[in-house]
Amino acid sequence: MTKNKVEAILEEMTREEKVDQLMQLATLFYEGSRQKGKITGPMEEMGIELNTVHNSGSVLGGAGAEEVKSIQKAHLEKNRLGIPLLMMADIIHGFKTIFPVPLAIGCSWDTDLAEMSAEIAAKEASVSGVHVTFAPMVDLVRDPRWGRVMESTGEDSFLNASFAKAFVRGFQGENLETDMDRVAACVKHFAAYGAPAGGRDYNTVDMSERELRESYLPAYKAALDEGCEMVMTAFNTVDSIPASANKKLMRHLLRDEWGFDGVIISDWGAVKETIAHGVAADEAEAAQKAIEAGVDIEMMTTCYVKHLKRLVEEGKVDEHLLDDSVLRILKLKEKLGLFENPYRGADEEKEKELILCESHRQSARELAVKSCVLLKNESVLPLHKEQKVALIGPFAESGDLLGPWSWQGSKEDAVKLSDGFKTKTKGENLFISRGCDIVTALEGEFEKAVETARKADVIVLALGEHSKMSGEAKCRADIRLPEVQLELIKKLKELGKPVSVILFNGRPLDLHGVIDEADAVLEAWYPGTEGGHAIADLVYGDKNPSGKLSMSFPYSVGQVPVYYNAYTTGRPKLEPVTEYVSKYLDIPNEPLLQFGFGLSYTTFSYNEPQISADAFNSQETLSASVTVTNTGDVPGEEVVQFYVRDVTGEVVRPLKELKGFKKMYLEPGQSEKVSFTVSEEMLRYHHSDLTFKSDPGEFVAFIGPDSNTGEPLNFSLTSSFQRV
Ligand code: GLC
Repeated sequence: MTKNKVEAILEEMTREEKVDQLMQLATLFYEGSRQKGKITGPMEEMGIELNTVHNSGSVLGGAGAEEVKSIQKAHLEKNRLGIPLLMMADIIHGFKTIFPVPLAIGCSWDTDLAEMSAEIAAKEASVSGVHVTFAPMVDLVRDPRWGRVMESTGEDSFLNASFAKAFVRGFQGENLETDMDRVAACVKHFAAYGAPAGGRDYNTVDMSERELRESYLPAYKAALDEGCEMVMTAFNTVDSIPASANKKLMRHLLRDEWGFDGVIISDWGAVKETIAHGVAADEAEAAQKAIEAGVDIEMMTTCYVKHLKRLVEEGKVDEHLLDDSVLRILKLKEKLGLFENPYRGADEEKEKELILCESHRQSARELAVKSCVLLKNESVLPLHKEQKVALIGPFAESGDLLGPWSWQGSKEDAVKLSDGFKTKTKGENLFISRGCDIVTALEGEFEKAVETARKADVIVLALGEHSKMSGEAKCRADIRLPEVQLELIKKLKELGKPVSVILFNGRPLDLHGVIDEADAVLEAWYPGTEGGHAIADLVYGDKNPSGKLSMSFPYSVGQVPVYYNAYTTGRPKLEPVTEYVSKYLDIPNEPLLQFGFGLSYTTFSYNEPQISADAFNSQETLSASVTVTNTGDVPGEEVVQFYVRDVTGEVVRPLKELKGFKKMYLEPGQSEKVSFTVSEEMLRYHHSDLTFKSDPGEFVAFIGPDSNTGEPLNFSLTSSFQRV
């Protein structure tokens, strides 16, 4: 349908139909929904009429070809102009085949696999009738108290931007107009939702515009540069104004400066929450501020449908704002081909073949293997099949491996750790017991666990957080494992047998009582549907761990926020440590495990670090290189990381910043030279006046296995880029 036809629809729409097009409600309000029949209650509560639903523009949470088709069909029969609904849903890391949580995917440092996971999620979702996913979530995170760090790829803007692009490519493919098996992506939560004060969800976010632009905005911009179709507003304030009412952020930066002309959707209730924030006196003012800020779709509240028409009639809101919002929504429907085919990719038959098919499971297993991080290994892993293994802990036989944002994923489809171990060992030499619950002791279970462990040569403890201990509104001030699990470790350690711990958690934890007690620790996060097989592959050595932390593990919660690319301060804590320097009296400054850290069953050496010249100008580039060798006796993958430090800036500059990475496979004894190009462009940063440019000066490059290691390579930039 050509553009002018879409504009023609707009012209035919009444003002009421335009306003209703901006409303998004959950499926339960819609005829044809599996949940229908509950319509009257919530609708009265919302203060809306059935006709408003018939005029609405999009639905939240519809999935399943049959249900989506019946909702769409019923809607088209009632919508005067036959405008189809957009079906939107949270498909964050898989639809029915669930991949590891995004924080785990971030630890894979494998953007190709990340893209593949989004492509598979899109294929399963589109055949089930979904048109738009509320992903990728690209909020930069530095505080593990916050429950939603599991939904992000971590603490580094460069790495997050790399994954943001990969996820958008995977979800949207090359051309949404022709590729019916892809879905439109919606980058969220704009902006800086990952920086709430105190690590407490929905809390105030307050930072300089410079820090916002330098650290928090790059990943959203990367998603949009990759063609992401939608943006979701954050719940939080940005510079004291809630994002959904923040004209400077939404209209001036996102739309005017970045040129984004796609659809902006509020987060759930975020338009009406501007009243609770205290920047709107009532729903009418909430509606006015949101439409003026450029929010097109109001999710799950009804300020727009109840007040916008009158606000336009009274001249308080310019009608072109309303028209622009409606047009953006209609254009997205047109791009998705919904006017020609309102059912797009929904197909009950194909759905049966595709959902959770073997190849999707194999892909999920591959990504889970690459997302686990070996944090410690005193030569106890990998296990051998002839060893007698006691698999103990609340996650030994748990299906709770999908994480808090798995939505359509079901625990029944998940391969439990015990399933993975049984498949690997054919059930021989394997003794399983629960030991305790996640947070509570269970009568007699400790004793059973000790008895089980006595029968074995080695102990594998499957411990962690319940998936309801992270995710939205699930913040923790104490980020240790629950006490009962720490006691279980101590109890079993007394038997004097090798103890390996496998962790299932949605955030970096304070690992005191775990990493000091165990002989090996494997971080599995929430590994997804194939988690049990993936971890068994790693624990029994069929696969070699290659994950690297994309978020620091703090020494203690007292340190947070703690992150690798911090500033030095005027009194850095240097050796020998003196009294008046930036330090704690009771804990170190450094995190327990730094960004980029991860062990392997083999070892790698980094030799002959070189830089091609010690100076260059803005028209040239340098090459920084190192030769990496697998010095162990098993093949392995290594994530070679490239960092740069700007020694002196117009503003303070981080100790180091990730500027590149390469994941490489090396056979035992194999060496490979790895090179990174140094360009003037990568040295640009936001100055105090917010201009984004480089300065001539001294720099240091580091190439290493993590953010703490690497020989310094000094170089200087002799002239910065001059816009002619
Ligand atoms: C939630 C989340 C958001 C999600 C939306 C729809 O509150 O903040 O990430 O996409 O509501 O479920």
